[in-house]
Amino acid sequence: MSAVRPELLKSQLFIAGEWRNASAASTFPVLNPATGKIIIEVADASVDDAGSAISAAAHAQAGWAAIPVQQRCHLLRKWFGLVTRCQRDLAHLLTLEQGKPLAEAEAEIAYGASYIDWFADEARRVYGDVIPPPDGGKRILTLKQPVGVVAAITPWNFPNAMLARKMAPALAAGCALVAKPAAETPLSALALAYLAQEAGIPDGVINVLPSTRSQALGEVFCHHPQVQKLSFTGSTAVGKQLISQIASQVKRISLELGGNAPFIVFEDADIDAAVSGAIASKFRNAGQTCVCANRFYVQRSIYEVFLGRLIAAVEKLHIGNGLEEGVNLGPLISPKAQQKVHDLVQAALSEGATLAYSQALSAGLVKQGYFYPAQILRDVPVNSVLASEEIFGPVVPLIAFDTEDEVLELANASDYGLASYAYTRDRTRCWRLSQQLQTGMLGLNTGVISNAMAPFGGVKQSGWGREGSKYGLDDYLSIKYICEDLDN
Ligand code: SIN
Repeated sequence: MSAVRPELLKSQLFIAGEWRNASAASTFPVLNPATGKIIIEVADASVDDAGSAISAAAHAQAGWAAIPVQQRCHLLRKWFGLVTRCQRDLAHLLTLEQGKPLAEAEAEIAYGASYIDWFADEARRVYGDVIPPPDGGKRILTLKQPVGVVAAITPWNFPNAMLARKMAPALAAGCALVAKPAAETPLSALALAYLAQEAGIPDGVINVLPSTRSQALGEVFCHHPQVQKLSFTGSTAVGKQLISQIASQVKRISLELGGNAPFIVFEDADIDAAVSGAIASKFRNAGQTCVCANRFYVQRSIYEVFLGRLIAAVEKLHIGNGLEEGVNLGPLISPKAQQKVHDLVQAALSEGATLAYSQALSAGLVKQGYFYPAQILRDVPVNSVLASEEIFGPVVPLIAFDTEDEVLELANASDYGLASYAYTRDRTRCWRLSQQLQTGMLGLNTGVISNAMAPFGGVKQSGWGREGSKYGLDDYLSIKYICEDLDN
């Protein structure tokens, strides 16, 4: 803890620019998943606190939307500067509460900050149109205006970046925001809010509600008349609930939900590049990433070679407490997550898969935290539960395929369509895959696709809307059409 500047370690609710205890004075513990120990007790927001935060945002809304865009951009840029300057402290905090290795946490802080940087500029490009009218004597214009107060619900796997990816475009568009970070990882969100206030972002524009009452707060966000839009990143099951709750008020909603990314390796691929891509995609955040490769399809003629090289690469992963030097694989977020991954692996083994590799875990790690060993399963049946559910753990299921048509059918046979990956040297095949894979994002010969300039989002049950890129602001804007009769 000594490595975190004390002012960045917040444990209260942030409402209307004030640090407050929860109205019922209740708190909950935030645990370090590498040790199972309590980091700090944090205020546990109630439904009443959510109401106060929404009122604060509604109060700040008009003033924030009216601030000249140049000034909004300047404030966002100042915030970006502070986040960047505190990168190491923020990363340390993130590793403590989330578990990912420090280098990955630093990368996440830079990634989150890049959304603030990007949208500071995009704020200046909220253009309307002048449209040629169907007849003379009329003028047709469009304006883009902020949707109003936004509620954001963010996950524990990227506690900084997923919030920055919602806050930055909301603020750039002129919206005030109420955020509910995951109960497992509220500290990164509170630190971001602290730095936003330091940057001069006005009181009430950002409000943060750590809470264990996820469902109750979700209902408040869906039903409260002063919330105009909800942005959610999390499971498809919760996304579906939110859609049904928000239907009663026909509010805007963006959803970044679950994935089941296929990772396809064709026989003409650069196998070493495919192995490095597989490691980058699968083992980022110990596999707890919506876009991480979830099922591996490898063409039969290179299956054994790929497996051998993948085992050699996975053997080099060093599992442990993310704050320790050299560790590049951290723990899972909770005992429940450990159990879920274990159950999926056992199910696949009972369906006929074989364990090709399992990392050794020291007794210390087993006792201390929520660690799960990196594992590779071979000959996984195509319809195995391991290849159809989001694993969210460091486990590679390998499936052999023979033809492009076959693997396309397998890859598309999923309710999800967030990310996909393919390795091949055949550029015409790249184009065919780009057209035919049912996915929101496609990595061709790369396992790393996320950045602020690109539109992040899915098709099918992986969600609605896009975050980042020139499209990311649209989710926070309404188009108003104006028709003026020039003769009257
Ligand atoms: C996610 O897991 O939802 C986000 C990962 C990313 O932005 O790359």
